[in-house]
Amino acid sequence: MAKFIVTKSGPLKGKVAINGAKNSVLPIMAASLLSDGFSTLEDVPRLEDVHVMCRLLEYFGSRLKWNNKTLSIDNSQIRPAPAPYDLVRKMRASFLVMGPILSRFGNVKISLPGGCAIGTRPIDLHLKGLAAMGADITLGHGYIEAKADKLIGDRIYLDFPSVGATENLIMAAALAEGMTIIENAAEEPEIIDLANFINSMGGNVKGAGTDTIKIEGVEELSGCTHTIIPDRIEAGTFMTAAAITGGDIILTNVIIDHIRPVEAKLKEAGIQVEPVEEGIRVYKNGPLNTLDLKTLPYPGFPTDMQPQMMAFMCTLPGTSMITETVFENRFMHVSELKRLGARIKIEGRSAIIEGVERLQGTQVKATDLRAGAALLLAGLYAEGTTEVLDIYHIERGYEGIDEKLRSLGANIKRVN
Ligand code: EPZ
Repeated sequence: MAKFIVTKSGPLKGKVAINGAKNSVLPIMAASLLSDGFSTLEDVPRLEDVHVMCRLLEYFGSRLKWNNKTLSIDNSQIRPAPAPYDLVRKMRASFLVMGPILSRFGNVKISLPGGCAIGTRPIDLHLKGLAAMGADITLGHGYIEAKADKLIGDRIYLDFPSVGATENLIMAAALAEGMTIIENAAEEPEIIDLANFINSMGGNVKGAGTDTIKIEGVEELSGCTHTIIPDRIEAGTFMTAAAITGGDIILTNVIIDHIRPVEAKLKEAGIQVEPVEEGIRVYKNGPLNTLDLKTLPYPGFPTDMQPQMMAFMCTLPGTSMITETVFENRFMHVSELKRLGARIKIEGRSAIIEGVERLQGTQVKATDLRAGAALLLAGLYAEGTTEVLDIYHIERGYEGIDEKLRSLGANIKRVN
């Protein structure tokens, strides 16, 4: 099994280019199934999760072709097929094909998604919305089946602004009869990117990025060309790498408006974040202080940056607090950080962090994608050497993270 060997690194310096967003390209690849046309996606990151979604699309008959970071998708031969457990188990985002396949073909059968380390992650809000649009949903033998001659638009209120449920319902509504209104919708930038993609296909989605999204169903959609937005979580991860090493880096291909919460919290800790010609510059130029943070749906502080910020907060002088309100079990990284000498106490959905002078490198393991990233960051700071195991979690969502960190001066190498 591959692992990352990280040794205490000096302040990171230099420039790093941010990739296209994983959490935007996955729903957009699913949305391509809404048409039998030919779509071209630009700036697609080469990630394990993207390859799983490619295999899933090919399962339905899509023909895919890569050219560096451009992915071409030919959907002229697609037809419904039961989405298999071994693909859906690997990646919860596989479930995003349900809306488009149901909307396009009137029936879809998909294995129940596996849970994962950060919580049970049910899909009740997805199913409730599809049922409201007339889908007849049955569960059996670990599969979910949905049928509907024609989905009918309806007004749907989401009990929680679920990103995946919002995306699935936008895609289902795109070819439904009449108007669908999604209330208490997720407002993440990836929702806006998905809406822009569907509108480029000839769809009619309005209000993405607000809590109320209106989708007017259309007869059919065509393929299109679309550039994926930059990955705000990869950007936040590198901003935090600069912070924890007291470095000075420039990030390119970044939309500063998408990472305002991360910018605000790093500034509150005493890190400088400023726009520059090529993107944004992040650097330390004075003493740091503690901060408290609470994760919330967008535009609140992103839960996907919580582990990385926790690693940084372990190094701040004094007591900090993190409250995780989005997932019920997203503190798996705490026990691994404590192996490095961090002082953290969990109380319910909050973690109380006592800053420490130093961390001591040792063997730790990634439990999920962002927890793994947090351990890499902690390893840059810890004395000696830190071995991070189970790095397949990290490589699901970060393309070449070791090369990028090394190019900034980090002592990190990947060994099989
Ligand atoms: C998306 O997951 C992201 N994944 C996650 O990123 C991210 O953490 C999450 O949104 C929140 O921002 C992708 O976009 C591929 P949710 P998703 O539905 O859609 C509950 C990463 O690291 N819920 O907004 O699965 C759920 O249990 C990953 O890149 C229901 O109760 O997240 C959770 O507590 C990790 N019922 C909360 O809502 C439902 O039907 C947020 O889930 C759906 C969700």
